[in-house]
Amino acid sequence: MSMSSDRFAFSANSGDDLLVIMLESTKIHTPSQMSRVFDIAKDTVLFLLLSCYYILESLFWTLMPNAIRPMKNLKGDVVVVTGAGGGVGRHLSIKLARLGAKVVAWDINKEALQKTCTTLTDEGYEVASYIVDLADRASVYNTAEKVKKEVGKVDMLINNAGTVFGETLLELSDAAIETTYKVNILSHYWTVKAFLPDMIKSGKGHIVTVGSVAGLLGTYRCTDYSATKFATVGFHESLFTELRAHGHNTIYATLVCPYYINTGMFDGVSPRLMPMLEPDYVAETMIDSIRKNEVNCVMPGSVRYLLPLKCLLPAKMCWDLMHRVMKGPQSMMDLKKKPNLA
Ligand SMILES: NC(=O)c1ccc[n+]([C@@H]2O[C@H](COP(=O)([O-])OP(=O)(O)OC[C@H]3O[C@@H](n4cnc5c(N)ncnc54)[C@H](O)[C@@H]3O)[C@@H](O)[C@H]2O)c1
Repeated sequence: MSMSSDRFAFSANSGDDLLVIMLESTKIHTPSQMSRVFDIAKDTVLFLLLSCYYILESLFWTLMPNAIRPMKNLKGDVVVVTGAGGGVGRHLSIKLARLGAKVVAWDINKEALQKTCTTLTDEGYEVASYIVDLADRASVYNTAEKVKKEVGKVDMLINNAGTVFGETLLELSDAAIETTYKVNILSHYWTVKAFLPDMIKSGKGHIVTVGSVAGLLGTYRCTDYSATKFATVGFHESLFTELRAHGHNTIYATLVCPYYINTGMFDGVSPRLMPMLEPDYVAETMIDSIRKNEVNCVMPGSVRYLLPLKCLLPAKMCWDLMHRVMKGPQSMMDLKKKPNLA
């Protein structure tokens, strides 16, 4: 490698004491620098070649219908689903049980959890259920220990539970903000810390993080909710890099970011351009994505193409698109207030 350095040297000349300003231009070639450049060039060429392979591989799998594609077998796998009493959680639990998984259902809402369990037992499936407040770290750790003792090693963790208050920043109570953070993101740390070590030990595991499109685009009346969902993206991406950097290549991580779902969480909202997704479709798509060991799952897929615009377009244009064309903030104004459970 050649490196040039410009140096000014001040020296007193013996004859006339003149200040001489010398400009030195030096070219340095050392073997270690040459090998560094060679290494970078080699890795870049390898990366470009592999990229061609990855793009072709991705196209191949995208074009192949699920019906003929090899999918991960979940038979006998122990799967913890948080928020299993809710709209998406219930559909997930039922579909996972039908695929042969042993569902471990978590929720704070006893009645809702009971409803999920009754549906499962009526269909002849076994289910283990636990009432747990995800906002309470000790309760999460204690319940995780119980699961390990009573059910066994957990093969998959689906951090699905979530909460939204739907207030503007100045309306939100401090307690509500804290609850949103505790349920929507902090609980992910406690559950993953509880179950990941055994997954690593056995060389088999899958961590599923349920985010939201509101975690990719800031949303009106969601300063707490959106911020925690943005945090789920960072959590998932960092966890993924840690798993791969440490060679845990058989522990998978999937981030799921759905658009509005018709579960009641965003009751009253009527989006202008795209109808809400149905929870059955969301659960089905999520399970397909998990069984393909996908890293990211955005629903509907078309949203993925809109997201880069956020960085490319002028901010005024984005705001105009959101509020004039999509009427996002206006539709969120109709969100029915939730009882303050914080
Ligand atoms: N509904 C949507 O429009 C939408 C859109 C994008 C992402 N999501 C996300 O999808 C996931 C599922 O949402 P949903 O629509 O099924 O919601 P939901 O409200 O129907 O279900 C959420 C479940 O989480 C449980 N829960 C809440 N707080 C809890 C706590 N402290 N401890 C234990 N359980 C708790 C609730 O009791 C409920 O059963 C959430 O993470 C949500 O943020 C939802």
